[in-house]
Amino acid sequence: MLDATPTVSALDYRDIFELRGRLYHQAMQKVPNARDNEFLNVVREARITPGMTVVDVPSGGAYMSRHLSDVELIGLETSQTFAELATARAQNVLLYENNQFPLKDACADRVLSIAGLHHVRDKCEIFLEMRRILNPGGRILVADVAEDSFVRRFLDDFVGHYCETGHSGWYFGASTRAELHDAGLNIIGDKRLDYLWCAQDMEQLADFCRLLFGMTLADTSTVADGIRNYLGIRELGHQVGLNWQLHCFACES
Ligand SMILES: C[S@@+](CC[C@H](N)C(=O)[O-])C[C@H]1O[C@@H](n2cnc3c(N)ncnc32)[C@H](O)[C@@H]1O
Repeated sequence: MLDATPTVSALDYRDIFELRGRLYHQAMQKVPNARDNEFLNVVREARITPGMTVVDVPSGGAYMSRHLSDVELIGLETSQTFAELATARAQNVLLYENNQFPLKDACADRVLSIAGLHHVRDKCEIFLEMRRILNPGGRILVADVAEDSFVRRFLDDFVGHYCETGHSGWYFGASTRAELHDAGLNIIGDKRLDYLWCAQDMEQLADFCRLLFGMTLADTSTVADGIRNYLGIRELGHQVGLNWQLHCFACES
């Protein structure tokens, strides 16, 4: 394991994604089904039905859109780069800042958030905003890396070492439960989601991670070693998968 100290504060992540967003998008375009299990797990937990209005925040380049049909999907983003990349793919992504969403009260049946909130130190404000836009009877699903998980060690130690801008964050833990509670949200589900990110072979999987996490200081074979050491892999016959995990809270207001 590497002993790496992140080189930047996570306060700068909005700017970092203006730089890293295109590499992230390139990864998601090259291997669009790599994270299918992740999106499908959250969609399943959200119990989405046709006709619903679903808000995805932060949406990145609107990658959730592959997994939802017959709903109105609205992406929210802080990064201009991601918003432009999504708009170029004819996806509906709106920019927001200061944790304030450009949406009216009680307009969403579901609010989803995947792997973005560890960039936000004080999450209470954004949880309050999610609650404000939620319809009565609606549901919020927030999924992110847990502070005590092997995924956090991979991100902060390995990715942090090979990404020019480092990696650090405010991951999910006991304080997240308190912040959800403080925002007036009732936690109805609280669990780890374990699944695989998949590709056709180890080289493709490592290349995907290298681009997704902006590990420009590593070559593909170094990233493959990091994946094996920190995450572990599973051979699936025609594919290979790496172990990934997010902690998911389901909430009502
Ligand atoms: C790992 S990506 C996740 C994007 C998308 N949900 C996905 O699963 O592919 C992290 C996201 O966090 C966003 N982000 C970075 N800093 C942020 C901040 N301070 N507040 C809100 N979002 C932020 C980035 O723009 C990016 O969309």
